[in-house]
Amino acid sequence: MEPMRGGSPFRVRAAIPADAPAIARIYNQGIEDRIATFETRLRSPEEIGVWFDGVHPVVIVEEGGEVIAFAATFPYRSRECYAGVAEFSVYVAREARGRGAGRLAMGALIRAAEEAGFWKLVSRVFVENAASRRLLHSLGFREVGIYEKHARLDGRWRDVIIVERLIPPNLRDEASPAVSER
Ligand SMILES: CC(C)(COP(=O)(O)OP(=O)(O)OC[C@H]1O[C@@H](n2cnc3c(N)ncnc32)[C@H](O)[C@@H]1OP(=O)(O)O)[C@@H](O)C(=O)NCCC(=O)NCCS
Repeated sequence: MEPMRGGSPFRVRAAIPADAPAIARIYNQGIEDRIATFETRLRSPEEIGVWFDGVHPVVIVEEGGEVIAFAATFPYRSRECYAGVAEFSVYVAREARGRGAGRLAMGALIRAAEEAGFWKLVSRVFVENAASRRLLHSLGFREVGIYEKHARLDGRWRDVIIVERLIPPNLRDEASPAVSER
C-alpha cells in the first residue's frame, strides 16, 4: 500500500503486528467511550495480535509517526460460501477524531480488502453513532436494516444498523472473485 503524500498530515499503510499496542490503545478508547461497540472488556496487545491472520487486512493511519486510527477486517462466518465476506471495524483515537483519519483508514481498508479478494464488507453500527453512519454512507455503504434490541450495553438494550458494501463495482456472476489462498 502506498503511503499518502501531499498536503495531508496523515500517512496510511498496512498494519504490522508491532502496531498491536497502538491499535489496542485506540480500540480501548472506543470501548471506554461506549459509543461504538457492545464490548466492555479492554483488550491487550496480545489479543490484537491474533487479528494478523494473513487473510484479513488491517490498516493504520499515522500522524507525526504516531498511530492515530485503524480499520480492520475479521472473519464473518466459517461457512466456505461466505469466504469473501468480511466484518470490519474502524476506530480513531479520541484526540484525532473528525479530521479525516477515519475516512482515510476506511478507504484504504476497502482497497486492501479488494486486493485480498473479498467481495463484501459488513458490520453493525449503533443507531446513535452519527459519525460512523455518515462516514460509511459517504463511502458507499448501504444501511440494510435495524436489528432491534440486538444486545445490552451496560444493562440497556441497543438497536444496531446492519451496513454492507459490495467491493468490486462490477460484481457479476461470471466473475466471482476468489479469496486469496489461506
Ligand atoms: C466514527 C469514526 C471512525 C469516524 O472517523 P473520523 O476520523 O472521526 O471521521 P472523518 O473526519 O473521517 O469524517 C467522516 C465523515 O463523518 C462526519 N463526522 C465526523 N464526526 C462526526 C460527528 N461527530 N457527527 C456527525 N458526523 C461526523 C464527517 O463530517 C464526515 O462526513 P462528510 O465527509 O460527509 O462531511 C470516529 O469518529 C471514531 O473512531 N469514533 C469512535 C469509534 C466508532 O464509532 N467507530 C465506528 C464503529 S461502527
